[in-house]
Amino acid sequence: MSSISTRKKDHVELTMSQSSQYIRTTGLDSIQLRHNALPECSIDDIDTSAQLLGRTFSLPLFISSMTGGYDKATQMNAVIAEFCETLDLPFGVGSQRAMLEDSTLENSFTIVRKKAPNAFIAANIGGVQLIGNLSDEKIIRMTESIEADAIIVHLNPLQELVQPEGDRNFSGVLSGIEDLASKVGIPIIAKETGAGIDAGAAKKLLNVGVSVIDVAGVGGTSWSKVEHARLMKADVKHASSDYVSHYESDMYARFNEWGNSTRYCLESLQSLAWEREFQIIASGGIRHATQMIKARCLGAHFVAVAQPVVQIITQEGLDGLFRWYDLWKKETKMLMTLLGVNHWNLLGSHCIISGDS
Ligand SMILES: Cc1cc2nc3c(=O)[nH]c(=O)nc-3n(C[C@H](O)[C@H](O)[C@H](O)COP(=O)(O)O)c2cc1C
Repeated sequence: MSSISTRKKDHVELTMSQSSQYIRTTGLDSIQLRHNALPECSIDDIDTSAQLLGRTFSLPLFISSMTGGYDKATQMNAVIAEFCETLDLPFGVGSQRAMLEDSTLENSFTIVRKKAPNAFIAANIGGVQLIGNLSDEKIIRMTESIEADAIIVHLNPLQELVQPEGDRNFSGVLSGIEDLASKVGIPIIAKETGAGIDAGAAKKLLNVGVSVIDVAGVGGTSWSKVEHARLMKADVKHASSDYVSHYESDMYARFNEWGNSTRYCLESLQSLAWEREFQIIASGGIRHATQMIKARCLGAHFVAVAQPVVQIITQEGLDGLFRWYDLWKKETKMLMTLLGVNHWNLLGSHCIISGDS
């Protein structure tokens, strides 16, 4: 197995453990939603549909980019694709770097379009892979192999720095994104992987042609913790040229809780949203519909979820995902009834009473 394939496999296994999650929270829990004693609507009339990039979906729920690039990932991507095709949800594949470097790994990605001919599917590539610009040939392979509706560029400097074999140079990512945006005819979504995009970074991304910011903030999966756990695995330690001392391990551990919370990112984007036209996805620790509604009240147009999806697939398969969706939708409808709001677009800051930061 190539080193990227082994790493992608490790990631899925390590994120199964609760210890891969931040201790810090999204910050959304301290927000209180406003109860409406006179909702004047029926739960049966609540419309949970929402729009992203001009398409309407059954729920504002994006299944985040996760996997691809090794054998078992094909099955996982097939399940995600079938789930999203059946329930009309958008999703992203994991980083396609592996298939761009080794075309024999393409199947684990192309399976998604076979299983989901009508779904909204986003391609995925790391910002660091765009330094010096991705070749036209690679851009075409990445997008055409899955007939992508959008391209997600993930920004993950924290993860790279903790990863023994990770990248260390982050200069040129922005111009790489600008080059990509100028060459492709589909929208670009920029996301973090759990350490958060705030207004400062978002503004620069919008200036180079990004249409959607997925904040992917602190509160869920900590990629610093995941990479630290990999570092401690014997095989990774030996593959790394440096001996990882006890002191060095402690140093890496200090980055376990690094990053901007999902709530902080959403609040920091609020003034930018007045000035610029773009859509916001809230992610990083979004685990249930109550957090989704709170994120909407802070300005998000959609939410995205990663870790719970792999966990459910591993433990309960596709049926488990269907049960999870039903519960999520039921909670959404109950909440919207209790807020007296019958459409997602009508939720806003007026639905919040208070929320200490
Ligand atoms: C197993 C796993 C693999 C991931 N691989 C990728 C990836 O290849 N590309 C990417 O953009 N994000 C990747 N992510 C990050 C997620 O898309 C997401 O941004 C992050 O985990 C925070 O969301 P969560 O708290 O809901 O897990 C991965 C997440 C998981 C759990």
